[in-house]
Formats: sequence, structure tokens, C-alpha cells
Amino acid sequence: MPKIAVTRWIPDEAVRVLESVGEVAVSPADRPLTPEELREFVSGSAAVVSMLHDRIDSTVAEAAGPGLKVVANVAVGYDNVDVAAMTERGVVVANTPGVLTDATADLTFGLLLALTRRLGEGERLVRSGRPWSFHLGFLLGSGLQGTTLGIVGLGQIGRAVAERAAAFGMRIVYSGRSRKADFAGEFVPFEEVLRRSDFVSLHCPLTPDTRHLIDAAALRAMKPGAYLVNTTRGPVVDESALADALEAGEIAGAALDVFEAEPDVEPRLLGRENVVLTPHLGSATVETRTAMAVLAARNVASVLAGAEPLTEVSA
Ligand code: DGY
Repeated sequence: MPKIAVTRWIPDEAVRVLESVGEVAVSPADRPLTPEELREFVSGSAAVVSMLHDRIDSTVAEAAGPGLKVVANVAVGYDNVDVAAMTERGVVVANTPGVLTDATADLTFGLLLALTRRLGEGERLVRSGRPWSFHLGFLLGSGLQGTTLGIVGLGQIGRAVAERAAAFGMRIVYSGRSRKADFAGEFVPFEEVLRRSDFVSLHCPLTPDTRHLIDAAALRAMKPGAYLVNTTRGPVVDESALADALEAGEIAGAALDVFEAEPDVEPRLLGRENVVLTPHLGSATVETRTAMAVLAARNVASVLAGAEPLTEVSA
């Protein structure tokens, strides 16, 4: 039976799929493996089921050996995998698109509402035991109706966020590689998204082009009353520039579910009331995480059976 290395816990449903095609080794460590541990762990594997915190590069492929056939990343994002290096070695790379779209869009909207309705502040106040009482001017936020949502990257998740925004009566502008004929929002240059939006929500993948897409200049281009929401990958935002912009009052607030150097967070963001921080929860529902792991397992099963993966990534 071929060895299948799973770098961290996955749901039983996915393990069962893998067990039908190979001998499954799940890392017992309740943490990301170090690069050395990862290389040792994958040695002799035909398949690696990887997590977004694993850096899967040529050294990992080498450590796995010539029998490595497939890397199945349990995430839609695959910036942690050197796809070109895998392709060069004939190793198939797969990701998990589609199954996490709704969960991530829901979380994005939750963050938007947490920002505008000041849920974090309110929650912290109640828990603090400090006195408070209802009055007409107490902890006021603002409504979403009639505001403009700017979507950066109109993939499946961006579209699902737009659907939710439409139900809230928001206007949509978006930027990306091309105008989508079947989408009602207004396609505008990235700079215009920044300039016109009350909320800028990031849904582009992390690539060399999008690293620090939101830098000091981008933040200065946003409206002073605007909010930034990031549920894609941390390095799309320059966290230090974001802290500067918030300190200078250049934007009204930000919600981050992902961080430049997870799990570390720019310390200046931690104490700010107008910042909502969540620990990479975009896809974190039982149903979604199970579906992601099962899809990754099916990708492995297909490739080990000599068939095409269901959701392959190309270099
Ligand atoms: C992904 O799949 O890329 C997400 O970040 C996981 O929540």
C-alpha cells in the first residue's frame, strides 16, 4: 500500500477515503511541523495531504522521494505550495475550491457587521464588568444599506460576498483580472475600488503581485470613513502600514481573519477598539472543514488510482 502522509489532524470521513487507497500516517503533533520534521514525516510517501501552514517546496518533494505523486492541499489557497517545483517533478497539486465558498463569505459578512455594529467593543465592555446603560447615543455604529462594498478579486468567494451584500442593499464595485459579463457589480480599476468603497473586502489569492497590495499608499487612497476586511491571506496587507493608517485616522477600522506571520499579529493592532481580529476562521464550520478534507482525500484517491484529480492546480 502506498504511504499517505497527512501533516495534521483531519476528520475521520477523510481518513476513511484515504485508507481505501493507502497506508495513512497522520502527524501526531498538535501544531505545524517544522520544515525538518515535515521532510522527515513525508519520507517515502506517494501522497502528502498538506495544510496551509506547510511550506511544500522542492526539498519536501525530494524528502518524499521519487514515489511522490500528489500533494493535496486542504485549502483553496495554495500559496504555500511551490506548484512549479512539483510540476517539474511530475507531482500533481490539488486544492479544495468551492466547498468553503459560503462559509468564508459568511465569515466576511460577520466581520463587516462586527465592525460596523461595534460588536467587539460591546462584547469587551460587557465582559469587563464596567457599568453601562442603554441610552440613545450609546455605542452607535452605522448601517450597511446604501453603502458601497469594494471587492478585490471576484472569484467564487468574492461573488458569494457580493450576493450577501446585495441582500443588505449595498452597491458593489470590484476589481480583478477582467470584467465578468454575468456579474451585476461595476468593474473598475483597483485604485477606484479604494477611492469609492465604504468597505474594501479582499478576495484575491496571495501571489507575488498581491503581496502587500494593501500598503501605505493604498490605505491613503481609501476614504477616511472606510473599513478594510481581509479574509484571504495575511501578506496581502502590510500590517505595519495598516497600524500606521489606523493610528493616523486614515481609515475607520479593519477586520482581519488572516495575518502576515500567523499566528503573530502586529502588536499595535491588538489594543485598538476599531479592529476586529479572528484566528483564520473563514472556513471553520464542521461541514466545511469536513468537505475540504474529504475533497483533498478524493484528490489523493483519484491520483493514486491513476485518474485525474478532481480539483487540480496548475503552475
Ligand atoms: C483556504 O482554504 O485557503 C482558507 O484560507 C482556509 O480557511
